[in-house]
Amino acid sequence: MTLGDKVAVVTGAAGSIGRAGAKIALLDINPEALDGVADSLAGEGLGGRFCTIPTNVGNAESVRESFRTVDRELGSTDVVVANAGVAQGANFIDISLENWQRTLDINLTGVFLTCQEGARRMMTNRHGSIITMSSTNGLLAEKALAAYNASKAGVLLLTKTIAIELAPYGIRANALNPGFIDTGLAARSGLDPEFLNAYVTKIPMGRFGLPAEVADAALFLASDASSFITGIGLVVDGGQISEE
Ligand SMILES: NC(=O)c1ccc[n+]([C@@H]2O[C@H](COP(=O)([O-])OP(=O)(O)OC[C@H]3O[C@@H](n4cnc5c(N)ncnc54)[C@H](O)[C@@H]3O)[C@@H](O)[C@H]2O)c1
Repeated sequence: MTLGDKVAVVTGAAGSIGRAGAKIALLDINPEALDGVADSLAGEGLGGRFCTIPTNVGNAESVRESFRTVDRELGSTDVVVANAGVAQGANFIDISLENWQRTLDINLTGVFLTCQEGARRMMTNRHGSIITMSSTNGLLAEKALAAYNASKAGVLLLTKTIAIELAPYGIRANALNPGFIDTGLAARSGLDPEFLNAYVTKIPMGRFGLPAEVADAALFLASDASSFITGIGLVVDGGQISEE
């Protein structure tokens, strides 16, 4: 599956989309991590097909400026992957307003700002694919993650609304609902290793997902292979939420 010469803007991570033929803009708040991804993509011979742009997705001006840079460096946006997100575990009763606000700013407002900026270009071009990062936590509640759960449920309905409003412009919008994926996010969100070991037994496929498996699902939704699919949440969870 390839994206040809399409321009994809990805917030929060690189994934394998860069290897699928797209010209890719990598937006992230962490410049050092961006440098690492740039080195690895350059090492794969993809120099000239990507750019890295430090961006705070929770800040409207930062997002606007980054899309202007993408316009200049790669061309108008065909695909948006609004992936940036954070999770900070705390029981509902203990969640600070700061934790709540930061989670919503990045996970929900960040997706709103990124999708809106991308959609403006796509509406002019009358085509495009928007992919947002929800979670199985946007479908079912998990203890100690109220702010995260609320943000991810919001992302799913925001995406469905984008889908029905922008379908007449040839723009599709779909969410991904990954289950537990083996990245740094889980460890940093304060979950203890014993909990993680018990968690894996709840996944019918008997393992956590891989980042590449989510990137492949994003690639499917970005490409013309999903040309009649819009407004869905695609669950990528090894069967977890299908089991009672
Ligand atoms: N890991 C999982 O199990 C899992 C499951 C379901 C959904 N998700 C979602 O997938 C997405 C990626 O998660 P991950 O596991 O790769 O986490 P990660 O922490 O490895 O990646 C998140 C990235 O977002 C960036 N980021 C944070 N705040 C930002 C901001 N304000 N502006 C721009 N970038 C910012 C971080 O620097 C980081 O590179 C998130 O939205 C997460 O909620 C993850």
